[in-house]
Amino acid sequence: MTEATSLHATRLAYDTVAVDYERLLRHELDARPLDRAMLAAFSELTQTPGAGPVADLGCGPGRITAHLHALGVDVFGIDLSPEMVALARRRHPGLRFEVGSMTELDLADDSLGGAVAWYSTVHTPPESLPTVFAQCHRVLAPGGHLILAFKAGDRCRHRDRAYGHAVSLDIYWMSPDHVADLLGEAGLVLDARLIREPDESEEPRQGRQAYFLAHKPPRAGWTARSSWGRGADRADECRPRAPRVPQPAPGHRHPAAAARKTGVADGAALPTVLPHG
Ligand SMILES: C[S@@+](CC[C@H](N)C(=O)[O-])C[C@H]1O[C@@H](n2cnc3c(N)ncnc32)[C@H](O)[C@@H]1O
Repeated sequence: MTEATSLHATRLAYDTVAVDYERLLRHELDARPLDRAMLAAFSELTQTPGAGPVADLGCGPGRITAHLHALGVDVFGIDLSPEMVALARRRHPGLRFEVGSMTELDLADDSLGGAVAWYSTVHTPPESLPTVFAQCHRVLAPGGHLILAFKAGDRCRHRDRAYGHAVSLDIYWMSPDHVADLLGEAGLVLDARLIREPDESEEPRQGRQAYFLAHKPPRAGWTARSSWGRGADRADECRPRAPRVPQPAPGHRHPAAAARKTGVADGAALPTVLPHG
C-alpha cells in the first residue's frame, strides 16, 4: 500500500468513527495511572522557560491535548481527519486544532518544545515510520521532547469494523526495540520506555502497550549541567571516597560488638556498607 493510500484509508476511517471513538474513549485515561504518569513526566519536561509549544500529532478528539493543557502545557492538536478536528474543536473550544499529517508537518523547523504521538502511529505502515520520526526531529527545538504511545508487538491486523462502524483500517503492533532503533536513526535520544501489560479492562489480545520518552539533543556545547561542568573537566577532580560507616545512635551497641561479646553471630552475616560514588 502506498503512503497516500494508507493516509486516505486512515482519514476515511476516523472521519467515520469520530463521534463514537470520542464517546467510548472520553474517560479512558482515568483508569490508566501509568499512562498518566508518563504524560505527567512529559508535561514537566516540556514546561521549561522559553520552550516552544507542544503539538499533539494525531490528536483525534483532543482528549490527550486537553489532559496536557490541564497540566499546564501550552499545547495544540493536529489530526489527519477533518471530522476528528471538528469534534476536538467542539469538545475543547479553548484549544487550537488543525488538519494535517505527521508525515508532512506544516510547522517550522526547531519550533516545538514537545511533540506527542499518542497511539497515532498505530496506523502508519512500518516503512513510513522513519518519515514520521524525521518530521518530529525537524520540528522539535534542540532539547525538545517527544512522547510516544503505541502497541508493542510485531504484527498487523486489518479491521473492517471499528467502534460500531464499517471501516478499512490496518493496525500495526511495533517491536519496542525496533522503534527505539528508528528514533535513534532519526537523531532522537531515548530517555525512558514503559511497557505495560494489558489490565482487566483490556482484551488480552491487545497485548502490551509501550510508552516512550525521547528528546532531540540540545545544540553542541549546551548541557543542562553546564553550571557544575563549567571550566575544568570535573571528572579529573574525582577522588575515591572512603566507605561510609554508619554512625550508631547514642547508647546503641553495634551488632559486631554484640557478636564479639556473645560469640553467637558471624561477622560475614552482618550488613555490608557499599561505597557509593
Ligand atoms: C487511535 S487514534 C488516537 C487519537 C488520540 N491521540 C487519542 O489518543 O485519543 C489515531 C488518530 O491518529 C490520526 N492519524 C493517523 N495517522 C495520522 C497522520 N499521518 N497524521 C495525523 N494524524 C494521523 C487518526 O486520524 C486518529 O485520529
